[in-house]
Amino acid sequence: MFAQRTLYRLGISHNSCSFARFRWSTSSSRHLSSWPPHGTRFFNAHASVSYMPTRSRRVVVGITGATGIIYAIRILQILKELGIETHLVISKWAHATLQYETPLDAAKIVELATKTYGHRDVSAPPASGSFQHDGMIIVPCSMKTLAAVRCGIGEDLITRAADVSLKEDRKLVLVVRETPLNEIHLDNMLVLRRAGAVIFPPVPAFYTQPKSLDDVINQSVGRMLDSMGIFTDIFPRWEGFERSKK
Ligand SMILES: Cc1cc2nc3c(=O)[nH]c(=O)nc-3n(C[C@H](O)[C@H](O)[C@H](O)COP(=O)(O)O)c2cc1C
Repeated sequence: MFAQRTLYRLGISHNSCSFARFRWSTSSSRHLSSWPPHGTRFFNAHASVSYMPTRSRRVVVGITGATGIIYAIRILQILKELGIETHLVISKWAHATLQYETPLDAAKIVELATKTYGHRDVSAPPASGSFQHDGMIIVPCSMKTLAAVRCGIGEDLITRAADVSLKEDRKLVLVVRETPLNEIHLDNMLVLRRAGAVIFPPVPAFYTQPKSLDDVINQSVGRMLDSMGIFTDIFPRWEGFERSKK
């Protein structure tokens, strides 16, 4: 009985193994009549397997209640323009802060994404490692969400999807926003960096000689996308002192 069950668990059909055939014919096999459980699917020797169909590039975007939702909006706009699929989750506190920081309401932000999920819905696709994607960015990332990801607390969809991204060895970019930083924040960032996340505080660069706030945002967002392996021309790249002056 034990051996029979083990063979089924390993996906080996009883027809393909003489030992199993012998066991099947014994009286004890009657007890196996309900094994595997009715409706259970398993591979047999004749199952055919194909690769998943090719899909477009896909990014999971989490927005939390730290200041800086403009970065998330710009990223969603750019990814839409590039034809990259976005799977969006907005935390409860992001809904609250966005009212102060942008004239866009949540519905307009949702329109920029390919799909949006409720932040409490831990049954949504990004909560599972079997949902294929090309990386996740939490932008902006609050210290609360940072702490939850550090501890592996997948209580909401953003923290669960981040945890899954790490365990599946996928890109995870955390646009952490707080200042100044206390020892707890720094410790959380160090642990997550060591676990494979990219820690990306949105600190502006001035060597690009920005002329407007838009230039500052585009430079930061462009570098965030670089960290995701998405290389764009939305900001001037450093080419050395001489060439940059021309
Ligand atoms: C206007 C406003 C700005 C905030 N800015 C920050 C911030 O920059 N960084 C941060 O860690 N928390 C900030 N918070 C606090 C977070 O919203 C709060 O910790 C919240 O619990 C985060 O939850 P979430 O990560 O699930 O969105 C801010 C709150 C408000 C109301």
